[in-house]
Amino acid sequence: MKILGIETSCDETGIAIYDDIHGLIANQLYSQVKLHADYGGVVPELASRDHIRKTVPLIQAALKEAHLDSADIDGVAYTAGPGLIGALMVGASIGRSLAYAWNVPAIAVHHMEGHLLAPMLEDNPPEFPFVALLVSGGHTQLISVTGIGQYELIGESIDDAAGEAFDKTAKLLGLDYPGGAKLSKLAQQGNASRFSFPRPMTDRPGLDFSFSGLKTAAANTIYQHSTEGNELDSQTKADIARAFEDALVDTLLIKSRRALDQTGFNRLVIAGGVSANNTLRDKLTQLMQQRKGQVYYPRLEFCTDNGAMIAYAGMIHLKAKQYSDLAINVRPRWPLNELSVVNE
Ligand code: KG4
Ligand code: ZN
Repeated sequence: MKILGIETSCDETGIAIYDDIHGLIANQLYSQVKLHADYGGVVPELASRDHIRKTVPLIQAALKEAHLDSADIDGVAYTAGPGLIGALMVGASIGRSLAYAWNVPAIAVHHMEGHLLAPMLEDNPPEFPFVALLVSGGHTQLISVTGIGQYELIGESIDDAAGEAFDKTAKLLGLDYPGGAKLSKLAQQGNASRFSFPRPMTDRPGLDFSFSGLKTAAANTIYQHSTEGNELDSQTKADIARAFEDALVDTLLIKSRRALDQTGFNRLVIAGGVSANNTLRDKLTQLMQQRKGQVYYPRLEFCTDNGAMIAYAGMIHLKAKQYSDLAINVRPRWPLNELSVVNE
C-alpha cells in the first residue's frame, strides 16, 4: 500500500509517499524560511498563500520521484492540527479533495504524532514503551508512550516552547529567524564558564518546563554588556549563546531523566525541530549510555517539519482503517491524548 502525506501546518510544505513494503519512496520539501525572515517570524497569511502555491506542484514532483501515477495511491494523509489554521486548511483541503477524487481514504494526522513517530522511519526503530521528549517551535512535552495512540502527557512547558526560546534568544543576539540552529552554531565558539543561566523549575518536583525566564536572563546579560549605541562584541554574543544552550539542554536532560525514573522506561525518543540540536543529542546519548538504555532520534531532515512523518503516521492509521469523513476539519489546538489507539 502507498500513501501520500501532506504537511502544511507552519512554514514548510512537506510532501512524501510511503510504501508499507519499500518504506519512503518520495520526499519533497519546500521551506518558506526566506519568505518570513524579513518579519522575524512566521506571518500566517503569507504562509497559507505560499502553501497554496507549492502543495500541488510538490505532489506532482513526489509522484514523479516515485515513478507513480495517482491511481497507485491507496490513501491520502494530511496534517489536520495542531498548527496555523490557514496553513492547515490548505493541506487539509487539497488532501481531502484528492482522496475524494481518487476514491481512496483520507487520514487526518496529528502533527505531533508525526514528530513522535519519525524515529520509526530509521533502521533501528524504538519499541514500546518509551518516553518521548517532543521539542519543537510550538511544543515542549514529555510523553509516556505505551503504543500507537497511547500517549500520556506527563510534562510540558507552561510558557515558551524550547524552539520558541531558542528563536527569541537568537533574535536578541541579532540572528535571523528561525535562529535556533544559528544560535547553536554560535554557541560552539562560546566560553562555557563566562555566564551561567538558571535551569528553570529543576529545583522542585515535577516534569513541567518554563523557558521564558531563560530568555529574560539572556536579555538582561545582553543589556548589561551593551555599551550605549554599540553592538555586543562577537565573543560576548557567543558566550551568551553558549550559556543559553547549556542551560536549556541541561533542563531538558534533568526532566527527561526524571521522566525515565517516574515511568521506569529505559528508552528515550527525542523528536521535533530542536532534536536537531547536536548538544542535546550528545547529552541525551550520554545519559542513556549511563543508564544502559537507548536513545532514538530521527535523521536531521526529519527532526524539523516534513511530509515523511505525516505519510508514516498516516499509513498506520490507514491500515487500522481510521479514516476521516468527508468534512474538511482542522484543529489548530488538538491534545495528543485524544488520538485513536491502534492495536498492532
Ligand atoms: O518541528 P519544527 O520544524 O516546527 C514546529 O513544529 O514548530 O521546529 C522548529 C523549531 C524552531 O524553533 C527552530 O529554531 C528549532 O526547531 N531548531 C533548532 C535547531 N534546529 C531547529 N533549535 C536548536 N538547535 C537546532 N539545531
Ligand atoms: Zn513540527
